[in-house]
Formats: sequence, C-alpha cells, structure tokens
Amino acid sequence: MTLTIRPGDAPVGAEVTGVDLGSSVDVGVADEIRMALCEHAVLVFPDQEMSPEAQVMLTRQLGEPEVHVLSDFTLPGMPEVFIVSNVRKDGKPVGAVNAGQYWHSDLSYTARPTFASMLHAKEVPTGRGETMFASMVRAYETLPADVKERIDGCRAVHDYTLAYETVFADNPDRTLTTEQAAEVPPVEHPVVRTQVETRRMALYVNPGFTRLIVGMGAEESRETLDALFAQATAADNLYTHRWRDGDFVMWDNRVTMHKALSNYADGDVRHLLRTSVKGEVPV
Ligand code: OGA
Ligand code: MN
Repeated sequence: MTLTIRPGDAPVGAEVTGVDLGSSVDVGVADEIRMALCEHAVLVFPDQEMSPEAQVMLTRQLGEPEVHVLSDFTLPGMPEVFIVSNVRKDGKPVGAVNAGQYWHSDLSYTARPTFASMLHAKEVPTGRGETMFASMVRAYETLPADVKERIDGCRAVHDYTLAYETVFADNPDRTLTTEQAAEVPPVEHPVVRTQVETRRMALYVNPGFTRLIVGMGAEESRETLDALFAQATAADNLYTHRWRDGDFVMWDNRVTMHKALSNYADGDVRHLLRTSVKGEVPV
C-alpha cells in the first residue's frame, strides 16, 4: 500500500494522498487507484501538478482513452484531452462552456459509455462552481420494493440530442451539428446495471440523456424516471466537491451521476482539463 485513502461522510467520495500523478505512476499504483475508484466511486487527489501528457498517460493506464464528439474543444494535437472552460479567446469559447450543468453520466448515450472520467483543475473560482456526485448504488438500494420490481429487467433509451433540446436549447455556445448528432445515434441500456468488479447493482438512468423507458407509455415512463431521479438526487445521497486549483478528481460513471453548478460569475475563470476511459457494454 502506498496510497492513503480517506473516505468522507457521503455515500461516494474519498480523498487520496501519497501519490504524485505528475510523474509516471507504476502499474501497482495504477491498480490500487482502479480498485479504490471502483469502491469509492469518486476519488479526489488534492494539489496535483501534472501536464496534459501525464494526464493522458494515467488515463491510458486505466484503459482506452476516449475522444469527445465535440472536437473543437480538445487540446491542439491531443484529441484525448477535452477542455472544460468558460474562458473566451477572440470572443470564442476555448472549451465546453456550461459543461455538465445538469445531472448526467458521461457518454451514457453511446454503446460503450465512459467508465472513468477525470478532471484536473487548472484554475477554478474559490468556493463556487462545485461538482455534485450522486451514488447510483445507494439510489438503487434504497428504492421501495415496488419500484425495484417495476424497473426489473427494463431498458431505457439514451440520446445526446435530448440535452440540446432541453438544457442547451437557448445556449448559442452549445450546439450540435447534424454530422455530430449522426455520430451519436440513440442507444438502449439496462435501467439497472452491475458494476462488474464489485457485483453491486446501480441505477443507470440520468436526466440529461435518458429519454424514456422502453415498453412503458410516455406518462408512466416520465413518472418512473422522475421518481428514480428524485431518489438519486436526495441530499443525503450526494457528495459535493468544492474545487481548489490543482485538484484532480476521478469518478466511475457506471455507478454515479454528476452535475456542475453554475453559481459563479462571468469574470470568474473556471478552466479544467478532462480525459476519460471507455467502458464496457452495460449489463
Ligand atoms: C464533465 C463534466 C463537470 C464540471 O467534464 O464530464 O460534467 O464540473 N464536468 O465541469
Ligand atoms: Mn460530465
């Protein structure tokens, strides 16, 4: 054991110290990180100094890096590194503005959605722009028996264009071209999935991308999804991360959903670099 892992009070989240992610991480440590991630779902590594290259290297050690469909917002020459930022250059955003300001699980609208996502905070406003994480394992475990029964064996449709019809509807900084939309056609996933390493069951639906539950009428689907979302986002089911410059935060999208808060001013800089690891077909 080289890492020190301190779980917090919330159902997800642990602080990890005793590792410098800026220098190369050996295989044993990468394995420890992966195991801790599966167990705690959100890992916070405070005060990390690391280059985008080091971030990509660590990402590779955890699996296959993903390349985001919004290719305008990646680092030049490094398509694996996606920029989450409200900084503008010559009037144009340098990265995804308003990224993830709604409950979602990354890339749930793809056939093999993201396993791990990681953000390195380069410059963040103090005390604002938090990211909230919900435990989808606990959300499932605490569902009433009749609801568990109702969703047993169900599948749901996930669709990236849903976010553009709803949260981004009036946001000129966030658009999806017809070509980009064609690259991410809607997909179906089980409503409850298993985290393969731990065999824990987790709800796998989210307000951002889940359009409907297959086989239910529109109204029943809406009501059921809303009930699941309410369960998942109850205050005692959340960890809220208050960012500091240098924080490196990693989460397992298979068992969490997350939402960034937009409670910062236009003059506040919020600039983070993001990489992610492809996951398996949900089961
Ligand atoms: C993401 C995301 C949240 C944030 O990068 O996947 O949702 O806090 N970002 O910026
Ligand atoms: Mn996200």
